[in-house]
Amino acid sequence: MNWPVGIAYLLASLTFIAGLRMLSSPVSARNGNRVAAAGMAVALVATFFLPGMKTGNFWFIFVAMAVGAGLGSGSALRVKMTAMPQMVAIFNGMGGGAAALGSVLEYVHKTPQSSQVMAVGLSAAIGAVSFTGSLIAFAKLQEIIQGNAHKWRWAQVLSGVLGLAIVALIVVLMTGSTSGDTGTLVLVGLTALALILGIVLVTPIGGADMPVVIALMNSMTGVAVALAGFVLSNELLIVAGALVGASGTLLTVLMGRAMNRPLTNVLFGGFGAVSVAGGMELPVGATVRETSADDAATLMCYSQRVVIVPGYGLAVAQAQHQVRELADLLLERGVQVKFAIHPVAGRMPGHMNVLLAEADVPYDLVYEMEAINGEFPSTDIVLVVGANDITNPGARDDPHSEIYGMPILNVDYARQVIVLKRSMRPGFAGIDNPLYYDPKTAMLFGDARASLQKLVTSVKSVAKPRTSRRSDEGRNLQETHRS
Ligand code: TAP
Repeated sequence: MNWPVGIAYLLASLTFIAGLRMLSSPVSARNGNRVAAAGMAVALVATFFLPGMKTGNFWFIFVAMAVGAGLGSGSALRVKMTAMPQMVAIFNGMGGGAAALGSVLEYVHKTPQSSQVMAVGLSAAIGAVSFTGSLIAFAKLQEIIQGNAHKWRWAQVLSGVLGLAIVALIVVLMTGSTSGDTGTLVLVGLTALALILGIVLVTPIGGADMPVVIALMNSMTGVAVALAGFVLSNELLIVAGALVGASGTLLTVLMGRAMNRPLTNVLFGGFGAVSVAGGMELPVGATVRETSADDAATLMCYSQRVVIVPGYGLAVAQAQHQVRELADLLLERGVQVKFAIHPVAGRMPGHMNVLLAEADVPYDLVYEMEAINGEFPSTDIVLVVGANDITNPGARDDPHSEIYGMPILNVDYARQVIVLKRSMRPGFAGIDNPLYYDPKTAMLFGDARASLQKLVTSVKSVAKPRTSRRSDEGRNLQETHRS
């Protein structure tokens, strides 16, 4: 590598690290994305100046880049926030596929040194698993194929057999007993088995485990890319792949922990495999209490502490600005308002934080699950906006629940709960929520945006208390909290 390319690669690596660091806070995330993208552009241009580049092939590369950039930016511009997980899945799959293909082609054209052969085999295998696994995840989330989980014992056995066969073929490749065409045949064979393994591994997984699977596929793509970096002797690929691999692994671990799901259970447990809506036992004769926007608004106006729990329905309704307006009005009246975020609320990590940041909800009003769970018993009203599974007490109390063990926001410990959703339909996990049948819960049915708009109008029409005593109390609470 010549020194200008080396410097460009070093610069790009630094921007990736800085970008990742900035992505860890909603305040700096947008700029973090820009910084890393600029670094990637520098790296791409620099790659054309690597020694040994055949200028005759540039046109193929340019055409491929134009098609890729067109498809990528076109779909990124059009995608809805709620469809982001499948977008991440398909982009990630392309990365895994590219790493596998790059390693196989390098082997075919150059017959790498023996020290690199293990990296070739592993990169091809891991990249191929990530490719088909991510495509299946995309198809499930896009509802092209059925998204439910299935408990297929044969799939576990088949996965084991395929995994062992792939390892055996990598060892054969490494022994050097195969070379030339036979070596290529072994490599193509193990890649084909890995493509099948990706399908067999991800097809039985579904329901609430999908985000963990996508994070896992992400980390696998990172590892495959880093290994391809060894094969191609490209330091930047090693750095970028290692960063993606490490962050994907961390995300997998954190999400598994947020749902109390060890990775082995995600891969082989068939979480949510019983796809029975309303599969939980509800009290006999359980009924649901409905409320009106006026009643709900009055209740909130005369409360001291309100906690708002946003969920997937808030994202679907694009109601983040309305929820902020409601919070502002309550704050003005001296009510203490906080937002409670569950780690897997919505459909992707940080989904709710992004939406609330978009509506300029102050970050110091936003609380993570561990920080807020202890406060529910002293909360007057919890306003659940389009959230379901993350508030399901069955996950905490009912060992028969499909999502038993998943930590939840303990909203049922609050004095009263108001739920905004359109119907009694279940959430992502496909199960009923006993919270709705709790006598302290009132349902305000309708689209979250329309319901919040009604609440805003109603709050505006509720007379402010004549004395300023209560309002002063609320303000003081707010000030204490802010300090
Ligand atoms: P869900 O359990 O999916 O519940 C969302 C609720 O919003 C539904 O019950 C739905 O009821 C309601 N809703 C939908 N559109 C609405 C609208 N326009 N207006 C009002 N309500 C609307 O969401 P959650 O509580 O946020 O939990 C997230 C779930 O998704 C978890 O099971 C989680 O594991 C899973 N998941 C999470 C991620 C990540 S990483 N965050 C990724 C994939 C999956 P109606 O149809 O009756 O309105």
